[in-house]
Amino acid sequence: MFQSVNHSKFASDLPRNCTFDENDWRILCNFWHPIAYAHEIQDEPEKARLLDVDLVVYRTSQGVSVARDICPHRGTRLSAGWVRDDNLVCPMHGLCFDHSGQCTKIPSMPHQNAKIPPKMRLYSVLSEERYGIVWACLSGEPNWTLPTWEMLDDPSIKLNFIPSGTWMAAASRHVENFNDLAHFPFVHGGTFGNETPAPLPLYKVHETDYGLTFDMPYLEGGNRFPDGVEADDREVVYTYELTFPFSTAIYIRPVDSDYVQIIADTVCPVSAHESKLFQIITDNTEEPNAEYLVKESSQINEEDKPLVEGQHPEDLPLDLTEEMHIPADRISMDYRRALVKKFGLGAPIAS
Ligand code: FES
Ligand SMILES: [Fe+2]
Repeated sequence: MFQSVNHSKFASDLPRNCTFDENDWRILCNFWHPIAYAHEIQDEPEKARLLDVDLVVYRTSQGVSVARDICPHRGTRLSAGWVRDDNLVCPMHGLCFDHSGQCTKIPSMPHQNAKIPPKMRLYSVLSEERYGIVWACLSGEPNWTLPTWEMLDDPSIKLNFIPSGTWMAAASRHVENFNDLAHFPFVHGGTFGNETPAPLPLYKVHETDYGLTFDMPYLEGGNRFPDGVEADDREVVYTYELTFPFSTAIYIRPVDSDYVQIIADTVCPVSAHESKLFQIITDNTEEPNAEYLVKESSQINEEDKPLVEGQHPEDLPLDLTEEMHIPADRISMDYRRALVKKFGLGAPIAS
């Protein structure tokens, strides 16, 4: 009933009811993770959850700020409050907090000019806005870069945001699915997959400064590209760029035109077995058909979702002996190896 003296209230403290292995949680805290689309954070605070930690996301004239969804006064959820006069206002006693998390006003204080102690502040979380996405790093000390999606850095390129979906699956299971081509004929026959299964060539995965990359040719079923080429099916090359731990960009290039489509996918590990997807899709035409691109991608996601949600075990087995592998799994095997070797994920916590 009563909280012990060593209570946990800072963003980098292990949350109560944490669904992650403690070792994994402490490692994942050091990465940037997406928590919201920037355009969703408008005049009112929004809630988000990252690694089992409840967060409030709010916008002031200084941009978007993120903090634990706990008022430092009596622990009320700040996401139930509001933003007024460029401050986040707690719904319980009206304490106001600025973009940095500092308390600027205590309405019930008898002397309104009295100085408010600096420690009266939110449990703020390091955040950044990039590619129209709000990213957060719980530890405050990111040990890995945000994804760099060069094509999306071009200000003339229009970003189309695919509405976030929640998958009841580990973020890493989604990443592997997103990087897997062998499932196309079986799962995506209704969209771009070629329904006739064909062998995939052996391919090499290369390590980059940020993660892993590989190229793969593929014969898509149908012709979905607005590049004026008339064909029943389209030969393309997919270039995958994976940024550890949970972000991937795919560049899709039909071999007979200059058309390029990019899908950038990044996943918020809400909890160990719940993920929230943030995806941007666009192309190198001046006027990408947003409605079509978003609709098609949403349909592709719906084709994948039930299969990934049903995968067992729910936790990605990082010990390669725990699942059987086929040659097309090169990327998945290298991804699992890297998560263990580079970051120490999947290891028991040192005592
Ligand atoms: S609990 Fe937030 S102001 Fe009192
Ligand atoms: Fe898929």
